[in-house]
Amino acid sequence: IGPKQNRTSDRDSNPMKSVVILISGRGSNMEALLAAVARGELPVRVAAVISNRPDAKGLETAAAQGVPTAVVDHKAHAGREAFDAALAECIDGYAPDLVVLAGFMRILTEGFVRHYEGRLLNIHPSLLPSFPGLHTHQRALEEGVRIHGCTVHFVTPALDHGPVVVQAAVPVLDGDDEATLAARVLQQEHLVYPLAVRWFAEDRLTLEGGRVRLAAERPLPATLISP
Ligand code: GRF
Repeated sequence: IGPKQNRTSDRDSNPMKSVVILISGRGSNMEALLAAVARGELPVRVAAVISNRPDAKGLETAAAQGVPTAVVDHKAHAGREAFDAALAECIDGYAPDLVVLAGFMRILTEGFVRHYEGRLLNIHPSLLPSFPGLHTHQRALEEGVRIHGCTVHFVTPALDHGPVVVQAAVPVLDGDDEATLAARVLQQEHLVYPLAVRWFAEDRLTLEGGRVRLAAERPLPATLISP
C-alpha cells in the first residue's frame, strides 16, 4: 500500500476529529495535549502545530514527535488583517475540526475569530473574568486573592473573554511568588486542556447560541469547575 491508500483507509476507518494547535513559545500545553494523545486518552489527530514565531521551542518538541509543523511569521505580514488571513489559510490547509490556542500570543481579528466560531478554544492562566491580559500571576499576588487558576474558553472577539468551558482553581499560598504560583496553575492547565479537547472530540462540548453545552462525565476532579 502506498501512502495515499494508507491515508484514505485511515480516514475511512477513523472518525477521529483533527486538531491544529497554535503556539508562540514553550509549548508545554501543546506537549500535554500530545502526551494525552500518545497515552490513548485523547481521541484526536493532531494535524499540525503552527507557530507565529520561527524560534518557538514547542516547534522542535512537536517535530520530534512526528507532528507536522508550520510557521506563519507575524513579522512577515503588514498588519493584523494580512497576518490573520495568512494564518487562516495555513490552518484551513489542514481542514481541522478544532483549533486550539496554546500559549498563542497574538490578538486575533474579529473576522478570524468568527471564521472559527464554535471550534476555537483558548487557555488563559487566570480565573476569568478576573485578570484578562498579561502578567496574571503577578496581578493575582498584588490583589491578594486567595484562589487563582486557569480557564479554558471558546474564543470570541473580546480579548481573553468568551464562554467558559472549564476552570481549575488553586490556592494562593503564603510565601508564593510569581514562579511558584505560575507552576501551580500550569500543572492544572495541563490537566484541563486535554480534558476540554477530549469533550469536544467526543461531541460532548459545543457552543450553541453563544452558550456552552457540555455533557461532561461527573463528578469532575475536585479542583475543576465547569457548567
Ligand atoms: C500558559 O500559561 C497559557 O495559559 C498562556 O500562556 C502560557 C503558555 O505556556 N496562554 P505554554 O507555551 O503552553 O508552555
